[in-house]
Amino acid sequence: MVFSSSDHASQLVAGEIADLIKNKKDKGENCVLGLATGSSPINVYAELVRLHKEEGLSFENVISFNLDEYWPMDEDNVQSYHYFMHEHLFNHINIKPENINIPNGKIPQEKIIEYCLAYEAKIKDVGGLDFQLLGIGRTGHIGFNEPGSHYNSGTRMITLDHLTRADAAPSFHGISNVPKKAITMGISTVRSARRIVLLAWGQNKAEVIKETIEGEVSPSVPATYLQKHKNTSFILDTGAASEL
Ligand code: GLP
Repeated sequence: MVFSSSDHASQLVAGEIADLIKNKKDKGENCVLGLATGSSPINVYAELVRLHKEEGLSFENVISFNLDEYWPMDEDNVQSYHYFMHEHLFNHINIKPENINIPNGKIPQEKIIEYCLAYEAKIKDVGGLDFQLLGIGRTGHIGFNEPGSHYNSGTRMITLDHLTRADAAPSFHGISNVPKKAITMGISTVRSARRIVLLAWGQNKAEVIKETIEGEVSPSVPATYLQKHKNTSFILDTGAASEL
């Protein structure tokens, strides 16, 4: 779907998430959300905070799993996704702290495989992802699943692409400060979500959005795997949709 304003589109996406949370609550069930970082979801989170503060939307039944985190990364570092999520969402809503899951950027290297398997298992234990919010990187990554990621990949450590590190450089005051690795949910983790919404705003995403939606399904643009998911929406502004 293409919108003239990303603000309006973000409000609609937040509204869908809010309705899901409420429907699950009415059934006495938890709502399991897969959450993304980056600039794209910021207004979705702002609207969810507004719905909490002004309309009493409760997050008491929400369990969240973030897609990714840089490695190595301290959680209180301002560049961490842990910091980002608290700043934009978790500090302003009533989610239970024990229901927040974000990959740990300080996990020692020798424990990473075990840690990633446990992250994956925890998602399954709570019933799987009801909803997965995604942005997209210019390499075609979702989460940090860079080109080459396998269709059946699970949560794991990956090496970041040069372009991804270059795009992140301004917020790290230079590319040399951008971590070379990250922990990310895998393509199979994302695909397991019962509903997926990918957000893309602006002309600089137009090329990768064209490849994602119109290109052949291929590991060289991991977002193309979403073409095989039955319940995915691509929410775009006119800039991001300009090459379709
Ligand atoms: C990072 C994140 C992705 C995100 C991407 C795009 O690489 N790991 O999950 O989708 O950035 O970011 P933005 O929304 O700022 O364009």
